[in-house]
Amino acid sequence: VQISGSTVLLTGATGGLGQAIARALHARGGKLILTGRRADVLAPLAAELDGSRTLTIDLSDPDELDSLTREAGDVDILVANAALPASGKLDSFSVEEIDRALAVNLRSPIVLARALAPVMVSRGRGHLLFMSSLAGKTATPGSSMYNATKFGLRGFAASLRAELREQDVGVSTIFPGFIRDAGMFAESGAKLPAGVGTRSPVDVARAVISAIERNRGEVDVAPVHVRAATLIGNLAPEVSAALTRRLGGEKIITDIAAGQTDKR
Ligand SMILES: NC(=O)c1ccc[n+]([C@@H]2O[C@H](COP(=O)([O-])OP(=O)(O)OC[C@H]3O[C@@H](n4cnc5c(N)ncnc54)[C@H](OP(=O)(O)O)[C@@H]3O)[C@@H](O)[C@H]2O)c1
Repeated sequence: VQISGSTVLLTGATGGLGQAIARALHARGGKLILTGRRADVLAPLAAELDGSRTLTIDLSDPDELDSLTREAGDVDILVANAALPASGKLDSFSVEEIDRALAVNLRSPIVLARALAPVMVSRGRGHLLFMSSLAGKTATPGSSMYNATKFGLRGFAASLRAELREQDVGVSTIFPGFIRDAGMFAESGAKLPAGVGTRSPVDVARAVISAIERNRGEVDVAPVHVRAATLIGNLAPEVSAALTRRLGGEKIITDIAAGQTDKR
């Protein structure tokens, strides 16, 4: 769908990737509705991206999510980008933290799509974009909650894409790998071994624009060898798990989780 002139609802606009996505959508002529919990970050972003509206909202609260679907009004494009890192071993999560991860990462994109898609269908025009992760294609130890939500989003979006194809409503899913400079991985402070490449927030934003404008189903944002490792994880999960252990991957995952516990 064409972004220029379209109303775009972006969740997680205050985050490292969200801000880059907001700037790219604005540069493309989108009329933005920016959402997040941090009003102090939303306000300057909206001032920079003239014509944007903001809605301060906690997506883990079902009533606030309901009010978002009402207050957003007519939306042509949904970019469901908000998420919690939800990293760490399962037994380190309280039930409340499990519920919050599911609510923000999985329930809120589903509820938003349920609320917004019928209007798009009635117009025969619209796009739903979901931000998954390569952790939505391959699982690693110590990421069960994050893997659960990101795999879930992939399945949801793939089914919806097939369901809405005839109605001219596009559906895309983006799968970033490790993203440098800003966002939940960069902020964890964890160091990657030499040779494990990263991509930038601007690369993710470019993928979002291209997915919406060309109705691409699934787009990875990672260097080719990281994508290849993900493919092995898909085709042969046991081999991939053994490789992760041998290459010291579990330490990296533990370091990332240790740097993200404040975001539960
Ligand atoms: N960074 C990476 O390396 C990477 C890799 C793969 C996938 N991703 C995915 O990319 C997306 C953006 O991540 P990021 O790196 O930009 O993370 P981030 O900097 O931590 O931003 C997360 C965003 O989600 C919002 N959010 C979290 N909890 C919320 C809640 N309860 N209610 C409303 N909004 C909430 C935050 O807004 P407030 O803080 O204002 O509430 C923030 O805007 C996520 O879906 C993430 O899983 C990131």
